Amino acid sequence: MKIFLDTAHIQNIQKWSNSGLIDGITTNPTSLSKEAGLPIEVIKNICKLMGDSPVSVEVTEKDPNAVFEQAKKIAAISDNVVVKIPCWPEYCSVIKKLVDANISLNITLVFTALQGLMMAKLGVDYISPFIGRLEDIDGAGLQVVSDVREIFDTYGYETEILAASVRSVWHMHQAALHGADIVTVSTDIFEKSLYHPLSEIGIDIFEADWKKLGVKQFP
Ligand code: G3P
Repeated sequence: MKIFLDTAHIQNIQKWSNSGLIDGITTNPTSLSKEAGLPIEVIKNICKLMGDSPVSVEVTEKDPNAVFEQAKKIAAISDNVVVKIPCWPEYCSVIKKLVDANISLNITLVFTALQGLMMAKLGVDYISPFIGRLEDIDGAGLQVVSDVREIFDTYGYETEILAASVRSVWHMHQAALHGADIVTVSTDIFEKSLYHPLSEIGIDIFEADWKKLGVKQFP
């Protein structure tokens, strides 16, 4: 499973981009609103830092024609940009035209398996089911991920399932079990997923026992 960082925070991206664990970045208007500097400069820096790895950048226009024009401009920022467009009935023909123009798209704000199926029919590269926001209102976010997995496997869609709105390490673990191709997580959740207190305790025990030997050089 691929792991993306769901952030526009350049220092956090810098910290982990060369770790071998991070396969891409997702941003949105909310994450960009938290960073200093012009959003276009923040995005350009992230794209440069990530090399060939995909960086999702969301449209901010609402009118379908404006979304179409803005999506083309966003795609031109860098070769590794993926344009993020909300799943919305009035955007379907725009999405189709952008796919036909070979623009890589990530359809965001997906809350049902059928929305995921429709977007895959349009030929987009990624769909982003939102786990946390569904669970916030007693919905079954992970069920959407596994339903989309089953549908895509049954009909042979190559669109990747990018599990988003991940609120915990448990969500991250469950996204993997439910068949997500990618999970996008905050830096905090990513770092927590690598940590276990027993690992830390174990390191301390081994260190203390080794010191008892008084060995000066090893090996
Ligand atoms: O845009 C991606 C998504 O992960 C947002 O998550 O926490 O705002 O529901 P959240």
